[in-house]
Amino acid sequence: MAQDLHLENIRREYSSRSLSRKELPDDPLEMVDQWLNEALETKVNEPTAMIVATATPDGRPSVRTVLLKEVVGGRFVFYSNYESRKGRQMAENSHVAVTFLWHELERQIHVEGTVTRLSPEESDAYFAMRPYKSRVGARISPQSQPIPSREYIMMRFASESLRFVGREVPRPDNWGGYAVTPSRIEFWQGRDSRLHDRFLYELQPDGHWDLHRLAP
Ligand SMILES: Cc1cc2nc3c(=O)[nH]c(=O)nc-3n(C[C@H](O)[C@H](O)[C@H](O)COP(=O)(O)O)c2cc1C
Repeated sequence: MAQDLHLENIRREYSSRSLSRKELPDDPLEMVDQWLNEALETKVNEPTAMIVATATPDGRPSVRTVLLKEVVGGRFVFYSNYESRKGRQMAENSHVAVTFLWHELERQIHVEGTVTRLSPEESDAYFAMRPYKSRVGARISPQSQPIPSREYIMMRFASESLRFVGREVPRPDNWGGYAVTPSRIEFWQGRDSRLHDRFLYELQPDGHWDLHRLAP
């Protein structure tokens, strides 16, 4: 079946933008801010979606999409279930990689670094802002575990929803925030003929960022 799709013939040029050394600030987080803002203003699809790679202690990787909720103090914040597959991997191996891909802007950002959990107070504060159904959902979903049926999860959702009508929905202990502290950030701008612009920032022991252009 896949051979009828002729994937090998799908090809397009990336020619709408460029990125040069003189546009780049000393601090890559300023550039992240700028590109995030442009993604929001351009109304790209899911501008805050980012792909997070985690790995087991022996280096077997897995990836999934999550939503960036904040870049604060130079850290990338997202929320999830601490007992999910990714949660278990991050508990054992704090090294992660993150990719933002904005097709409409022909741009990617790759981040590598280490992850820590937010404090319970920080997670509480964000949890309290979530819509009622999302708060209930976080309580009843054993994320990444096998479940017998869709009905199973819908029943759990219905009974937990009733339990908290008109009351505060408490954050479950197994749900909260993660913050990724970057040590490597790459900006990728698609260009003609696959001669893309790539700039890599690497954090140095003295706290400043080295910057290099990379071959496409
Ligand atoms: C656009 C999009 C946004 C998502 N955002 C989140 C999120 O913020 N947190 C989360 O735990 N899962 C999110 N998910 C679901 C995850 O991709 C994934 O299925 C889930 O976290 C379980 O991953 P795991 O089994 O690798 O732990 C999102 C999925 C998509 C497609």
